[in-house]
Amino acid sequence: MKKYDVRSCTILRKNRLTGDIYDVTVEAGLLAEAARPGQFAQIAVPGKTLRRPISICEIGAAEHTLRFVFQVRGEGTAILAGFEPGEALDVLAPLGHGFELGDTSRRVLFVGGGIGLPPLLAAARTFGANASVVAGFRSRDAVILRDDFEACGCHMMIATDDGSLGHHGLVTELLSGLAFDAVFACGPLPMLRAVSALAAERGVPCQVSMEERMACGIGACLGCAVSLRGPDGAERYGHVCKDGPVFDSSILFL
Ligand SMILES: Cc1cc2nc3c(=O)[nH]c(=O)nc-3n(C[C@H](O)[C@H](O)[C@H](O)COP(=O)(O)OP(=O)(O)OC[C@H]3O[C@@H](n4cnc5c(N)ncnc54)[C@H](O)[C@@H]3O)c2cc1C
Ligand code: FES
Repeated sequence: MKKYDVRSCTILRKNRLTGDIYDVTVEAGLLAEAARPGQFAQIAVPGKTLRRPISICEIGAAEHTLRFVFQVRGEGTAILAGFEPGEALDVLAPLGHGFELGDTSRRVLFVGGGIGLPPLLAAARTFGANASVVAGFRSRDAVILRDDFEACGCHMMIATDDGSLGHHGLVTELLSGLAFDAVFACGPLPMLRAVSALAAERGVPCQVSMEERMACGIGACLGCAVSLRGPDGAERYGHVCKDGPVFDSSILFL
């Protein structure tokens, strides 16, 4: 197989996790064999020119599946949410640069906000009990993937904006008491800024998964330009779809 490919992937399972978040597992053949945690797929939407980028949430190596967890944001994701088991999605994958996992015996911290959690699950699974996961949600009703992270052996802490579950407040308020050797994060920009600053203060590496509006998804259209710090400290441009979506936070201007 090429680095990435396109395939018609039959939906094996579909669940609704919250009012607007769907969990879809597809049979993905060689795409699943090639996929790595933190990469993403571009899924075709009937009637729309552009595919929609959705992170690979889980990779079923044995059963050759890919799992996607996505929120309905507009017309494209609403159409994708209408697909049912037995129907096929047109999937271009695996795309982008995923997480560098390194030594999985390190104590690592995963920080995710809301729909920023799905891209972290496959990576967290490889660390199991060495991973602490701090997850922030709007409210108890918006909590997703808690059972999945816990089933991987990860130690999970939850914060909600309204205090309906776990810590009442921001995820970042839970981080100061934790010890860790590396951080992986995905979520809103202010959260990524705070997590990256804390990692820099502690002198530990931090990788963040960025979401930017995309068109081609393969580095050909300049649709997802991001400003990066080069090795000499000078600013240069990169592409979220090709150089990311996962970046070492030290090269991002967050
Ligand atoms: C690398 C990558 C991975 C992603 N992974 C996931 C995922 O695992 N689960 C998930 O639910 N979503 C994910 N997204 C966001 C998802 O691609 C968008 O929500 C989707 O493309 C919106 O399409 P739409 O047609 O439904 O909405 P549109 O009509 O295109 O837009 C509706 C709203 O969504 C916002 N939006 C559109 N594109 C993006 C984007 N790329 N990032 C953030 N907001 C956007 C728009 O600003 C607008 O407010 C990811 C995005 C990227 C770039
Ligand atoms: S989406 Fe086309 S270059 Fe990234």
